[in-house]
Amino acid sequence: MIETGTETGRHFLNLSDAGHDAVAAMLADAVARKAARATFAKGRVDDDAPLAGRVLALVFEKNSTRTRVSFDMAMRQLGGSALILDAGTTQLGRGETIADTARVLSRMVDAIMLRTDDHAKVEELAHYASVPVINGLTDLSHPCQIMADLLTVIEQGKPLEGLEVAWLGDGNNVLNSIVEAAGLMKFNVRIGVPEGYDCDAGFVARAQAAGAKITVHRDAVQAVAGADVVVTDTWISMGQAHAEAKLAAMAPFQVNEALMAHAKGDALFLHCLPAHRNEEVTDAVIDGPRSVVWDEAENRIHAQKSVLRWAFGQI
Ligand code: CP
Ligand code: NVA
Repeated sequence: MIETGTETGRHFLNLSDAGHDAVAAMLADAVARKAARATFAKGRVDDDAPLAGRVLALVFEKNSTRTRVSFDMAMRQLGGSALILDAGTTQLGRGETIADTARVLSRMVDAIMLRTDDHAKVEELAHYASVPVINGLTDLSHPCQIMADLLTVIEQGKPLEGLEVAWLGDGNNVLNSIVEAAGLMKFNVRIGVPEGYDCDAGFVARAQAAGAKITVHRDAVQAVAGADVVVTDTWISMGQAHAEAKLAAMAPFQVNEALMAHAKGDALFLHCLPAHRNEEVTDAVIDGPRSVVWDEAENRIHAQKSVLRWAFGQI
C-alpha cells in the first residue's frame, strides 16, 4: 500500500499483489463497465469518469502495440489521460537511474506503467515511486495480459474454477502469469513445452501449493487432451536471440487444427499477440471458429481499466 495523498494506491507487479478476491473483483468490475459502455464511441468517457484528472505515464523499453494503445484508451475512458514515453528517448536511455526517474515521475504523474526486460527494474521503480506502478510486461511476467485473458474466458461462459488450460510452446513470461493465475483462481494448467524451455519453477511451486494442478508434458497431444482453453505465444520473445535450435524444438508444439482436435469440442484458442502466423499457430486456428484473440486484444482495455481502478484504491 502506498499513500498517494488523497487515497491509498497499490502496485500491480504480479497478480499475487492483488490476490484472489481482488482479481475476482476486478474481473467483475471489467464485465460491468464493458457492458455499461457497449454503445459508446471508443473514446467517450465513462459516465462516472472515475480517474478524471489523473495522468498515467507509460514507459516502454520494448516495443508494444496493444499495451500502449489499451492503456491510453483505458485512461481516456476513465476520464484521465496518458503520456507515452519511449525510454530510449528519455534520460533513462542515457543512464539516469530508475530510482531518480521514479522520484521525478511521482511528482509529475499519478501512476506509472513500465514495460522492460529485467523484472528487478519494475520492482526498483515501485520501491522508489510514491504513486502506483504497473507491470506492462517484463521478462518474468505479463499480469495485465492475463487479466484480459481471464476476462475473455469468463465472457465466453466458462467459469475459471476447475478450468483445464493447455499451454503450448515456450515457457515464457506469459505462461508464468497464467500459472500464477491458476493458483489464485483455482484452475489447472497442462504445460506442453519441450525440455529445456520450462517456465519459472517458483511460479509453478506456488500455484501447486495453492492447489492448482500444474503438469508438464513433453508431448503436445498429451498437453492438449480434453482442454477447455488452448493458449500459445511466440517462440522467440522480445529480447531473445533468434535461434534455429529453439524453433526446431518448438515445431512439434505448433497449434494447428490436428492438435486442436484433441481439445474439447468447444475449446477456446487464445494468443496474447503479436502472432507469428504458421509458426506457433496456423492461420486456420487463429482465424478459425474457436479463436477469440480479437476479443482478447480488446479486453486489454477493459481489464486494465479495472486494474487501474484497483491500483488507485477504487476497487
Ligand atoms: N500482448 C501484448 O502485450 O501486445 P503488445 O506487445 O503489442 O503490447
Ligand atoms: N512473450 C512475448 C509476449 C509479447 C506480448 C514477449 O515477451 O515478447
